[in-house]
Amino acid sequence: MATDFTEETAADAVVESFAPSTSPRLREILTSLVGHLHAFAREVELTIPEWETAIGFLTRTGHMCDDDRQEFILLSDVLGLSMLVETISNRKFGVATESTVLGPFHVVQSPPLELGATIDLVGTGTPCVVTGRVVSVDGSPLPGAELDVWQANDQGFYDVQQPRVQPRGNGRGLFTADSGGEFWFRTIVPSYYPIPTDGPVGELLIATGRHAFRPAHIHFIVTAPGHRPLTTHIFVAGSRYIESDTVFAVKKSLVVDFTEVTDAESAAKWNVPVPFRHADFTIIMQPAPAVPSA
Ligand code: BEZ
Ligand code: FE
Repeated sequence: MATDFTEETAADAVVESFAPSTSPRLREILTSLVGHLHAFAREVELTIPEWETAIGFLTRTGHMCDDDRQEFILLSDVLGLSMLVETISNRKFGVATESTVLGPFHVVQSPPLELGATIDLVGTGTPCVVTGRVVSVDGSPLPGAELDVWQANDQGFYDVQQPRVQPRGNGRGLFTADSGGEFWFRTIVPSYYPIPTDGPVGELLIATGRHAFRPAHIHFIVTAPGHRPLTTHIFVAGSRYIESDTVFAVKKSLVVDFTEVTDAESAAKWNVPVPFRHADFTIIMQPAPAVPSA
């Protein structure tokens, strides 16, 4: 006979319903999920109206999703789940650069650009030069590493959010590091910005008295042969909200000085007007685990 459904045995009853053929990993995940979900409902003594409110919230979250908008990911972001999963799956190996969230504004193909090109197609904002090098954990340079870069403009909007205001590709570039693993490009200093708040996630932020802002940052996906791909940001030191990113994605090691430069010689070297900002940092890639031979 099946387990009697009581408060104490509820989770066991659900787990016992799984067929023996259920994959071991799915069984592990669902057994834990059901156990925690039931424990949560018991702990807060969830009422039927509260359960209905939660179902309504999740239903509206689903209705907000389409090919361009993923409200469930945004929900995961503001609940800190995205960063937790990111942190678990990219546990820092020694000195390797830390990863952080991908976010919803990555487009599959940034325009390939020459080193030194500008990703700013508009010409407003504070000019900025970003330089750095891609190396392996032993310090050896990684020539040919690819850097997919994207950022918001000086008003805090990505090109895809303002299709009639910004040219497509503004704030985006795909660069290839030179023979010494070095890269450099021109841009403008990005602004802090709010995540989308016109859906259920916005309601949640209001209900919990939270702001919606992310500190200013530039996104990177870096790939190099024989190394784990790295999805990360650099954050502008001193940006508003650097201490309270609404998606909890700031790691101290990723905060970079965007130093003001005023001398004309440096400006001429980088082909920018004075004054400009200069951010320089090293990206340290983790070697990929060796694939066992068959
Ligand atoms: C972003 O940085 O693009 C982002 C990350 C998480 C949620 C919303 C935006
Ligand atoms: Fe972003």
